[in-house]
Amino acid sequence: EKGGYDYFMLKEIAEQPKAVADTLLGRIGASGELTLDEVRIPQSVLREADKVVIVACGTAFHAGLIAKYAIEHWTRIPCEVELASEFRYRDPILDPRTLVIAISQSGETMDTLMALRHAREQGAKVLAICNTNGSTIPRESDAVLYTHAGPEVAVASTKAFLTQLVACYLLALYLGQVRGTKWADEIRAVVRDLAQISGQVERVLETMEPVRELARSLADKNTVLFLGRHVGYPVALEGALKLKELAYMHAEGFAAGELKHGPIALIDKDLPVVVVVPSPRGRSVLHDKIVSNIQEIRARGARTIVIAEEGDEAVVPYADHLVRIPATPTLLQPMVAAVPLQVFACELATARGNEVDQPRNLAKSVTVE
Ligand code: M6R
Repeated sequence: EKGGYDYFMLKEIAEQPKAVADTLLGRIGASGELTLDEVRIPQSVLREADKVVIVACGTAFHAGLIAKYAIEHWTRIPCEVELASEFRYRDPILDPRTLVIAISQSGETMDTLMALRHAREQGAKVLAICNTNGSTIPRESDAVLYTHAGPEVAVASTKAFLTQLVACYLLALYLGQVRGTKWADEIRAVVRDLAQISGQVERVLETMEPVRELARSLADKNTVLFLGRHVGYPVALEGALKLKELAYMHAEGFAAGELKHGPIALIDKDLPVVVVVPSPRGRSVLHDKIVSNIQEIRARGARTIVIAEEGDEAVVPYADHLVRIPATPTLLQPMVAAVPLQVFACELATARGNEVDQPRNLAKSVTVE
């Protein structure tokens, strides 16, 4: 049932192009409008919502952090993202005009379930983004937008993450459509870009051998740092989480702009530092700033592993290892940038002799608080 792969995780990484395409399927109407009929929350509620709050754990939380950029950009509704386990313990401000989005692959995560129950008790509407049909979180929500990743067996989440991003982008655009902040032609343009992602992920997967080789060469390291900016910051957090759970290595993700406020003191000779570089097109200010960060890190003798768009030549002189990803619009870059980090963590786990699909101390769904 592993389809010829050594591990479910490898199979699930390879299934990502299909998972992404399946999650888009049937959700775009003939004239380019979004048809999210499952979002059975009255349009008046969606129109009047004055705040979006996303609750989730682990990888799903990272998808939520990325969704915030898309939601605020495309709808102009303020959006907060909170770890589900922290949410109800701080007396959050919720009312019927708050739209809560609970993201969960399994639909059984107790922390997320308790957060959504708390939100509903306060009168907020809850929409679940979930990969498991009929599970508890969608059953207890006002509506559900399913991700179509298919069953995810490996404890480390991969294809579910990419489909959570697709669902979040669709939902953000749908909110924009309902509220009139996004018009059909703009939605069509983003949907066209989204439709390209499946093929782009496929291309990334075809070029992963050097990443695997690099991972094997780092098997005796103790720490790896991950840096990113904008939507690349949650990608850095996700890269670090994958490494912790699979390779049992110390790993941390930082927003690159924070480096000078403390973390730069960690930079040492030979320390591997993975940097997710924003596109040089679009937000070029951020690109240039991160290139300076890479220079600073390199000047201190660390080993730079740079994930950058094809055609980005500015990073070449400072990259000890360069991983190329296809050019995408800024907001969609996480879908291609996360893939090499999954492969990296999986290969490091194998090189260190760890159990890839069933890492120690972890369960696929965490049904205790
Ligand atoms: O099933 P859920 O999406 O609610 O699970 C949330 C987290 O437990 C999960 O993403 C966890 O962090 C993964 N093992 C990460 O790979």
